Amino acid sequence: MIRLKSRDEVEKMRLSGAKLGTVLGYIGDMVEPGITTGDLNRAAELRIRELGAAPAFLHYMGYPAALCVSVNEEVIHGIPGRRVLKDGDVVSLDLGLIYEGYYADSAVTIACGDVAPDDAHLIDTTRDCLEAGIRAAVQGGRLGDIGSVVQGLAERNGMNVVREYVGHGIGRELHEDPEVPNYGKPGTGINLKEGLVIAIEPMVNAGSPVVRVLDDSWTVVTADGRHSAHFEHTIAITARGPLVLTQR
Ligand code: MF3
Ligand code: CO
Repeated sequence: MIRLKSRDEVEKMRLSGAKLGTVLGYIGDMVEPGITTGDLNRAAELRIRELGAAPAFLHYMGYPAALCVSVNEEVIHGIPGRRVLKDGDVVSLDLGLIYEGYYADSAVTIACGDVAPDDAHLIDTTRDCLEAGIRAAVQGGRLGDIGSVVQGLAERNGMNVVREYVGHGIGRELHEDPEVPNYGKPGTGINLKEGLVIAIEPMVNAGSPVVRVLDDSWTVVTADGRHSAHFEHTIAITARGPLVLTQR
């Protein structure tokens, strides 16, 4: 069941989203060679609590941290810990919070120090995929329009979108209907309406789209070991067009 949000609710989600944008921007700026992924997680949880919000991912389905940190061939759901980031790493940060009953969810991929040209292209393409997906999130459009532009842009750049994990509706729960795939056909799927709030989150692999889950039962990695990037924003469809709630 899709729960459309009133204008009042979208305003409240804007507050959650603004806090998340602030924290994720701050954590992103901390990424540099020598820092551990656990340091990033601790800082993220602290900043979220300082803003009067609560981490959304901590203990969600048993997930043990506030932040997901996925490095290089890790696609999503990397568990932060003692790992030391090094020059050239491709670092995806995924963070969620809840504030006054409303969730916000956002992800960014950061180049740690100097990355290879192919990695820079992967990161830029994935960011472009998210931006194109957001531009397609308009009243009168269809859900498949979003997936179609995301997939098309990735594939035109010789990359592939992950199929097994998707974006989602978001509001009083982290994951609401509908699912928002990063693939699809234009003119298919549900009608996009004012008040629909969704997390659009392209996961783009430099090589094959195939992924698998590590023995920690969380970390999703590419099957071929090539690198992956992930960007996500929580957005609202409004009469004035798509509104990014998690702006950094
Ligand atoms: N951003 C992820 C999502 O949209 C959340 C990570 S799942 C968690 O599903 F378990 F790590 F919280
Ligand atoms: Co999400």
